Amino acid sequence: MYIDPQNKNEVRRLSVSPRLEESEQPLYRSKNSQLDLDNNRPGQQQDKNNSEEDVRKQQGNIEDSIDKLNKKMSNAKLDDIEQRIRNGPDGGEVGDQLKLAGISKQRTVANEENDLKKLAVHGKKTDCKYTLRDFQILRTLGTGSFGRVHLVRSNHNDRFYALKVLKKYTVVKLKQVEHTNDERKMLSVVAHPFLIRMWGTFQDCEQVFMVMDYIEGGELFSLLRKSQRFPNPVAKFYAAEVCLALEYLHSMDIIYRDLKPENILLDKNGHIKITDFGFAKYVPDVTYTLCGTPDYIAPEVVSTKPYNKSVDWWSFGILIYEMLAGYTAFYDSTTMKTYENILNAPLKFPPFFHPDVQDLLSKLINRDLSKRLGNLQGGSEDVKNHPWFSEVIWEKLLSRNIETPYEPPIQQGKGDTSQFERYPEEEINYGIQGEDPYNVLFEGF
Ligand SMILES: Nc1ncnc2c1ncn2[C@@H]1O[C@H](COP(=O)(O)OP(=O)(O)O)[C@@H](O)[C@H]1O
Ligand SMILES: [Mg+2]
Repeated sequence: MYIDPQNKNEVRRLSVSPRLEESEQPLYRSKNSQLDLDNNRPGQQQDKNNSEEDVRKQQGNIEDSIDKLNKKMSNAKLDDIEQRIRNGPDGGEVGDQLKLAGISKQRTVANEENDLKKLAVHGKKTDCKYTLRDFQILRTLGTGSFGRVHLVRSNHNDRFYALKVLKKYTVVKLKQVEHTNDERKMLSVVAHPFLIRMWGTFQDCEQVFMVMDYIEGGELFSLLRKSQRFPNPVAKFYAAEVCLALEYLHSMDIIYRDLKPENILLDKNGHIKITDFGFAKYVPDVTYTLCGTPDYIAPEVVSTKPYNKSVDWWSFGILIYEMLAGYTAFYDSTTMKTYENILNAPLKFPPFFHPDVQDLLSKLINRDLSKRLGNLQGGSEDVKNHPWFSEVIWEKLLSRNIETPYEPPIQQGKGDTSQFERYPEEEINYGIQGEDPYNVLFEGF
């Protein structure tokens, strides 16, 4: 049985994004507060009891668009669109649903790759689609460096959702305005079976809010710490799903930059959903910002060189390593030593790592960018074609048409939070009316 040598890796690790000139400054998460805004949007009550006929009508209306998209989109994505129509917090009108699904009446071929890339630059408008009055706020599901995520229940369809709340004051103070706007933008354009789905955003004078699907199975982090380490086939399954998600993001020129088990959730069937787009960004070429979670940061980021998408392939290697070993490749109890290890320490494997995965990891966790797998001519195909993944049938996996290694023991659709850690709750005072000095900074919300 593996025991963490220093027993320090049990706590969820915080993401960090110090400005280069302020890298000594510690970063703390925000606190929050509750309540409302206007509630005059059309179509809410009438959508409450969406009949099957309504749903069919809505589907009929978008048939044209879907036909056009059919050639380009996988079945998985189409299923996703249909689900969106049924599962939105307010049932939604067709136009809204189309927008959410990445299609607008004017932009029937919005899923053309180039179109999507263009969308990623500015994100899509998310309007003031929801307000606090649409939801009942229940318990806290998670906290991170910059925000708090609540389980909420829609007052319109009684379903459960996750509401991520970021306090504007903290975001500004920690210089995360651009990252927060990017988080909204990136979430507004992605649609993939292994990525979290965002339904809409809104703001009050003190915080910004993001409404997402509630993913019931908890963090991969919790499962991993409970299991100590995963057997080879289990790690391979999760890694393969993550690989498809990264491939998709990179095809849209989006870097994710915060891959780790804390940000990977398991759905009711045991498939993954990557959440937390707090550092995701449209980067067609290179960028510079030091951000991520220390254990997972690539050496070129640590040494503040310009870097590109391949930082995600480094982190992907670290993730596989951690799933198999139970600890990360360059772990140290102090962050400075971790960074030092990332830059210089030799990559060592426990003897029980299969030779194929040792080969894969030495190619992913490679300081030489001209040799790092995923960053070569073949891109993500090189990763997918590596012998460690030889038994993966990628198309089947993408359509989730494959048995998962673990089904979270939850009651579906009931707001079951048994798979999440408990967090101290704070008094909620969202929705207070007043002056908003940061109004112009979060215009997209
Ligand atoms: N859609 C969701 N469903 C269920 N839990 C979620 C969801 N999104 C986030 N969480 C939980 O909240 C935690 C913090 O959210 P995250 O977006 O990662 O915030 P931060 O940027 O502060 O790390 C996650 O690690 C996860 O446990
Ligand atoms: Mg997180």
